[in-house]
Amino acid sequence: MNIERFDNEDVLASALAVRLIEAISLKPRIVLGLPTGRTPVALYREVRTRSRRGHVDWSQVRTFNLDEFVGLGAGDAGSYRTYMQGELFDHVRIEPINIGMLDGRAANLAAECARYELAIEAAGGIDIQVLGIGANGHIGFNEPADTLDAETHVAVLQAETRAANAGLFDGDLTRVPTHALSMGMATILHAHEIVLMATGAEKSSAVAGMIDGPITTRLPASFLQVHPRVTVLLDRGAAARLA
Ligand code: GLP
Repeated sequence: MNIERFDNEDVLASALAVRLIEAISLKPRIVLGLPTGRTPVALYREVRTRSRRGHVDWSQVRTFNLDEFVGLGAGDAGSYRTYMQGELFDHVRIEPINIGMLDGRAANLAAECARYELAIEAAGGIDIQVLGIGANGHIGFNEPADTLDAETHVAVLQAETRAANAGLFDGDLTRVPTHALSMGMATILHAHEIVLMATGAEKSSAVAGMIDGPITTRLPASFLQVHPRVTVLLDRGAAARLA
């Protein structure tokens, strides 16, 4: 793993925004895997600003988001789709048809997961997968467990993950869905390149385990150790427990 440390989350976010925009200019039909959560808010802000200033051509860019809450979709408060529209998609000239998102309101969730795997494959796979990490070491919604799912699947959310997402629902834990759809571990690990961003001391244990610990289903991000092209971007807090 290639580890890079930054003084704070703003410099980290601009460094990654610059890299993503450069990657788009090198490969206009790039396929990006995108995360939600608090961590990438600064990244999307930087990408929006730089796209406005720099004539970035989003017309052929294709994206696939990592996950979505079951029961929620476009137009729903709290959905990752709504988050992505507000943070990024409404502000750049991406073609709606090129936006890949899981539909948490699909009548047949298993079929929706299968559709997503095929759509990623049909796009030629993900060139750059951007990830955040949960304080318990989850990536996407692949939660610590005895076994992990390889492909896109329905995930049961752990209490701490639901609590971490309550901000999307005005802090009301009862409104946070209990299930989500998520890319699986193999879906993520098939990406050509992976960039994981982590900020804040509350991520420091998960980050240390991911980098220096054993590969274990109890810390799903530790599986990134087997991928040949992973870059981990950390602020001081997230890097605090590294050897
Ligand atoms: C969420 C998302 C993940 C995200 C992680 C960290 O539950 N499903 O994709 O990376 O948890 O979120 P945050 O950046 O808000 O700490």
